Amino acid sequence: MRCLRRCWVKKMPVTIKTEHEIELMRVAGRYLAEVHEELAAALKPGMTTKDIDRLGEKLIRKRGCIPSFLGYSGYPASICVSLNEEVVHGIPSDKRFIQEGDLVSLDAGLIYKGFQSDAARSYVIGNCDEAKMKLVEATKEAFFRGIAAATDGAHLHDIGAAISDYIEPLGYGIVEDLVGHGIGREMHEPPEVPNFRQRSRGIRLRKGMTIAVEPMINMGTWQVDFLDDGWTTLTADRKPSAHYENTILITDGAPEILSLPGGRRS
Ligand code: MF3
Ligand code: CO
Repeated sequence: MRCLRRCWVKKMPVTIKTEHEIELMRVAGRYLAEVHEELAAALKPGMTTKDIDRLGEKLIRKRGCIPSFLGYSGYPASICVSLNEEVVHGIPSDKRFIQEGDLVSLDAGLIYKGFQSDAARSYVIGNCDEAKMKLVEATKEAFFRGIAAATDGAHLHDIGAAISDYIEPLGYGIVEDLVGHGIGREMHEPPEVPNFRQRSRGIRLRKGMTIAVEPMINMGTWQVDFLDDGWTTLTADRKPSAHYENTILITDGAPEILSLPGGRRS
């Protein structure tokens, strides 16, 4: 989610979900996990980024859900497809072909019975570029390190601190212009969830909060540029970037990963 320059978070209090709302968010998350699995199975060289979007929209609608990105602030597609140096919010196109060795980040969101789920995955096509694969793995690991700190009574910024502790020694850059977010009836609810260390501790996390944690990790500099299409975010040094995101529920113990049923590290 975009913050600092143009904040998307709705002005509202942080919400604690009821058991019924959590149940709906579990279903939304399970459907979104399935959509990602089907997209991953379909990813092949020669496809266009628009092919991925078309398939994603079909998979979302087939489950009786609404693609939450489509039309959001004018975004023109259901799936954000970002290649290589594109960090997030790439716009699908009939003219962009996926090639062997590409690092492809897919971000998708859906609404089930009024409740949102948001998740992103990155892949290297053909598993043939070692440096890109390491970046993808580290980005996923950063997510798991971050959420390990997200338990009832912990502070929000413990998440970013844990991600920084893991990523900084690897020499990668953590994107700061975009952050994770609360999620529920709205895709972007408070609080903002930074993926990097803060000076403050942030609010206390409480059981029943639902947030999307989404580290964006760059092979080189943390700095990014925004394309004048109003969406595509790319690395300032044009080196590759990876993204990994899930919608999680804060509990007494380890968070429940709603968009990854069973908490599998897929
Ligand atoms: N995961 C993305 C985010 O939180 C989803 C928003 S993409 C948009 O920024 F197209 F809907 F804007
Ligand atoms: Co998000």
